[in-house]
Amino acid sequence: MQFRRIDQLPPYAFAEVDRIKLELRRAGEDVIDLGFGNPDVASPDIAVAKLQEAAAKPRNHRYSASRGIPRLRAAICDLYRRKFGVELDPETQAITTIGAKEGLAHLMWVLAAPGDTVVVPTPTYPIHRYAPILTGARVADFDVTADDPIGAIREAVEREQPRVLVLSYPHNPTTVAVEPGFFDDVVALARERELLVVHDFAYADLAFDGYEPPSILQVPGAADCCVELYTLTKSFSMAGWRVGFMLGNPDAVAALGRLKSYLDYGTFQPIQIAATVVMNEAPEYPSEVAELYRSRRDSLCNGLNRVGWAVPPPRGTMFVWAELPEPYRGMPSMEFALKLAREAKVAVSPGSGFGPGGDGHVRFALVENEHRIAQATRAIRRLLNE
Ligand SMILES: Cc1ncc(COP(=O)(O)O)c(C=O)c1O
Repeated sequence: MQFRRIDQLPPYAFAEVDRIKLELRRAGEDVIDLGFGNPDVASPDIAVAKLQEAAAKPRNHRYSASRGIPRLRAAICDLYRRKFGVELDPETQAITTIGAKEGLAHLMWVLAAPGDTVVVPTPTYPIHRYAPILTGARVADFDVTADDPIGAIREAVEREQPRVLVLSYPHNPTTVAVEPGFFDDVVALARERELLVVHDFAYADLAFDGYEPPSILQVPGAADCCVELYTLTKSFSMAGWRVGFMLGNPDAVAALGRLKSYLDYGTFQPIQIAATVVMNEAPEYPSEVAELYRSRRDSLCNGLNRVGWAVPPPRGTMFVWAELPEPYRGMPSMEFALKLAREAKVAVSPGSGFGPGGDGHVRFALVENEHRIAQATRAIRRLLNE
């Protein structure tokens, strides 16, 4: 049978490295896995305790509210007020999603259709490109690593006349980060061109050395033409819990809410209760998580620099985006990633998996401890010195 839509999804680019990793592990090799960005840090104890307590109550076993229980929506609005000085109405400007990824994918269903154009960054986290493609919309790119990012976005918007613009800073995989004034220009452009901006803010809290990633909703009036996705996945290291939010433009919030009321019955209520408590009672957790990634970033970047692979330390995210080292420049990133896996026993993601412009790089995810990261850089040194 020919299936619809999924034919447009290319084979998963990271599967090949994963396959080699499993093969090596089966053969008894110790592979250091810096490939998949799956956080290894434990979720806050308070989340686990609250989940257990809430799960013991039968009244929490029923269908929950698909747009999120009122206290959870109030908690995310309080977090935005405290952290970003942004006022949001929990009734009309906040909806719970099953992680940022689901939120983004279903949001696209209500924003785009065949005949529409969506402008997305490239290279980028795959759902930024494939959420619009799954709606049948046309996708056009802008180079997220351009020296003049707002210029690159403006040029793509003027050329493509999109209905929707997808942005995400600090950015996965390139770690590009922006200054607060950047979003003033984006919001002005969105107003001028009458488009909706979707800002995926998955790394809102993972920033280092005093850098504070701005929220697009900090721009006065941004909620007229912008929505932002925030998630507990990285900030609170709660990846498996699947708790995210879409915030901002009330029409988009209502549209997604209407769609979701047909698609799901909401996240398991004890998870929503635990998520509420975490945001209200463990507001310091994200900075502890960020500090851990910062020290891993330093271990990896210093280690790579010492072995002659110069990589700039990122200001945010949980990744290091590295141009292939000198002797391997010009090699396809997939080939280099497979070589690293086979010969150094270090798994990374090939840049080509993130779309046009990604080749020539690999992405390290900082999801192993410093001891393991040091082990990885020693193995890479042997490979580079061969
Ligand atoms: C840019 C970006 N957005 C969204 C996600 C997924 O977030 P969630 O777990 O909330 O679906 C990730 C995870 O790696 C990401 O890098």
